[in-house]
Amino acid sequence: MTQTQIKKLGSPSSSFQHNMDAPLPIIRKRRLRQNAGFRSMVRENTLSASDFILPMFVEENVSERAAISSLPGVYRESEQSLGNIVKDAAATGLKSIMLFGVSHNKDESGADSLHSKGLFARMIDRAKQASPETLVVADLCFCEYTDHGHCGPLTKHGDVDNDATLENLMRQAVVAAEAGADMVAPSGMMDGMVAAIREGLDQSGFEHVPIMSYATKFASCFYGPFRDAAGCGLGKGNRKTYQMDPANAREAIEEAMQDEMEGADILMVKPGMPYLDILANIRQETNLPLAIYQVSGEYAMIKSAAEKGLLDETDAMMESLLAFKRAGADIILSYFSLDAIKQIKDGYLENV
Ligand code: PBG
Repeated sequence: MTQTQIKKLGSPSSSFQHNMDAPLPIIRKRRLRQNAGFRSMVRENTLSASDFILPMFVEENVSERAAISSLPGVYRESEQSLGNIVKDAAATGLKSIMLFGVSHNKDESGADSLHSKGLFARMIDRAKQASPETLVVADLCFCEYTDHGHCGPLTKHGDVDNDATLENLMRQAVVAAEAGADMVAPSGMMDGMVAAIREGLDQSGFEHVPIMSYATKFASCFYGPFRDAAGCGLGKGNRKTYQMDPANAREAIEEAMQDEMEGADILMVKPGMPYLDILANIRQETNLPLAIYQVSGEYAMIKSAAEKGLLDETDAMMESLLAFKRAGADIILSYFSLDAIKQIKDGYLENV
C-alpha cells in the first residue's frame, strides 16, 4: 500500500491536535456492528441445540435426585428420576447426553462397570428406554468404579496398568453397546485405547458404534467439582502419568493424530476455555468432527462469579460457548447445555 492510500484510509494522525483536513476513514468496521440485525447477519459462528451434549450424573441406591453443592443447578439423578429428566430434556430440544455413574460398588479394577447388571449398564439402558431418540454417549472409564479412584487397575508400583486397562476397556465398550449406548467416549488417556475399543466393538457386531475419543485430556485442576460430584476423588497420587501436561501443545497434536489413526470418529479437547489454542491447532490438522468439554470447574467459576454479582451468567455462558465454536468445535459438552438451548430458542443470538 502506498503512503497516499494509507492516508486516504485515515491512518492515525501523529499530531495530537485534530486536523480538519485529515481524510476520514473509508473503511469503517463499525458499519456492520451498528445494530443487532447487522451483527447477526455477519456473525461468523453460531450455536444450535444439536451442538450440545449434556453430561449427567446417576447415583445408585438412592431414592431421590440430589443437588450437587459444587455445581449449582446440576443433580445426581437417581435411577428412578433419570428417565423423566432425560425425556424432559429431549422435549426442550436436547439431542444427546453423556452419563457418569456414582457407584457404591467399587473395587480394585472397577468390575461393576464390566457386567450387564451393574450401574454403568443399567443407567444407559434406563436413559435409552426412556427416550429412544436421545443419543446416549457412554463415558468409558474406570475411575468412578475403582476404590482407589484411578482410571484402571494399578501395577504393583501404584501406577495405572495401561495394557490391563485396554483389555477392560474392550469389555466395557461392549457392555455399553449392549446396553444401548449410541456412542462410546473413552476418557482415560490410555495409550492404544481407541484401537482396542474399535477391535472390541467390531468383534461383537458393534461396528456401527462411533468412538468419540477424549484424545487430548489435560491433567487439570478444573476437574475438581466433578470428582466431588461423581465421588471419584483420588486416594493417592494424581493423574499426571496418563493425562497431558497443561504446558504442552505439540504433544496434543500427536495425541489427536494418533487417535485418528487408530480409528476415532470424533476427537475431543478437554478442558475447554483454557485450551482454545489446542482446539484451533487440531482443527488445522484434521477433518474429523471436534468436540470440546467445558468442564465442571469452568461451569462452577462462571456460576459463582455470577452469584457474587461479578458478571452476567447468561452473557458469560453464551460468550464462552461461542468461543468454542470460533476455535473450531462442532460439538460442545457442557453443564450449561439446557440453559444454552433455552437462550438459543428465545432468540438470544438474534438480539445480542
Ligand atoms: C473421568 C472423567 C473426569 C471428567 C470426565 N471424565 C475426571 C477426571 O479425569 O478426573 C471431568 C469432567 C468435569 O470436570 O466436568 N475420567
